[in-house]
Amino acid sequence: MKNLAEVIASGELQGNGPFTKKCHDWLENLYGAPALLTHSCTAALDMAMMLVDFTSERNEVILPSFTFVSTATCIVNSGGVPVFVDVDPATCNIDPAQVESAVTDKTAAIVAVHYAGVCADMDALAEICRRHDLILIEDAAQALLSRYKGRHACTLSDMACLSFHETKNLVSGEGGALVVTNPSFIDRARVIRDKGTNRYDFFRPGSTLDKYSWQDKGSSFLPSELIAAVLFQQLGQAERITQRRVELWHWYRDHLSVLEEKGFFRIGKVPPDCETNGHIFYLLCETSSERDDLLEHLKNDGIGAQFHYIPLHSSVGARKFNARTIGDMKHTDSVASRMVRLPSYAHMTLDDSNKVVRAVYSFYES
Ligand SMILES: Cc1ncc(COP(=O)(O)O)c(C=O)c1O
Repeated sequence: MKNLAEVIASGELQGNGPFTKKCHDWLENLYGAPALLTHSCTAALDMAMMLVDFTSERNEVILPSFTFVSTATCIVNSGGVPVFVDVDPATCNIDPAQVESAVTDKTAAIVAVHYAGVCADMDALAEICRRHDLILIEDAAQALLSRYKGRHACTLSDMACLSFHETKNLVSGEGGALVVTNPSFIDRARVIRDKGTNRYDFFRPGSTLDKYSWQDKGSSFLPSELIAAVLFQQLGQAERITQRRVELWHWYRDHLSVLEEKGFFRIGKVPPDCETNGHIFYLLCETSSERDDLLEHLKNDGIGAQFHYIPLHSSVGARKFNARTIGDMKHTDSVASRMVRLPSYAHMTLDDSNKVVRAVYSFYES
């Protein structure tokens, strides 16, 4: 409230003001690379695809089918072709072996999604990109403060996209950021974010430009100072909120692993070289009908558990835009039909989480 009052009192509500700068500094300090606030992760993904710059010879992007729709729409919005591959069922993250078999002369980029705040196998993907001269992008919508081999998500590729949507660990209502790890993309990223103009250079201290003008493709991707003011408060709470989420993730796992050992379901895995930010705790039921029954049981107990993504490879959008699918997608179809996400939020009380666990037990013990 204090930050919002400060912005309103200043009368300068447009983007790129003092709170935007504070958020940029915070992210840059964390990642050691420049970051640009956007309206959403969707907007950051759109920017990333504009930066990839498709040609008629190279216009394909490999991505998992088990992801949010924006990971694919950004590709078709820029005239590219999505190429869907299957996930590793242990993590629900893109499977590098499947990626390898999907690479062609037309491949321009790979997008890895860090599902549930657990990083994809980025070393394997980076190696494929090096060998085939591809751009690597992280859809890190769910992965702020997640780590892979001790390194932060968002530092493992050429550019990374964050979300601060209200469903994420840190929120500004809608919101996102593009982290530009590969320095060769940053100048164009600033132009694309500012309606395709060199406005950033014009306002830079010591600029010799007497006006700003149209330079490149672009759109209006920068959020208002009101959003940045809310986000900056959240960034200051990042460690505390994430720690609480991670505690809750471990608490669920400790209390539900007995049922997993009895073979009732599988709990989403965090590989030993990954540190989760506790964004999502999920179960994979034995069958799709059992999943539906469990969701219904929890709903009747007043518990808002959820399934997750509808696979993209078999969607109307995929057909409409001639997306390609490589492989049988059996893991994608299987995990999507069996997944249950349990409620998780930083201010969840012990009573709340106990209630969820009791309801899961009562389902399997009846
Ligand atoms: C993997 C992934 N990518 C992108 C998005 C889009 O994020 P936003 O709502 O900030 O555009 C989401 C949203 O849930 C997501 O889960």
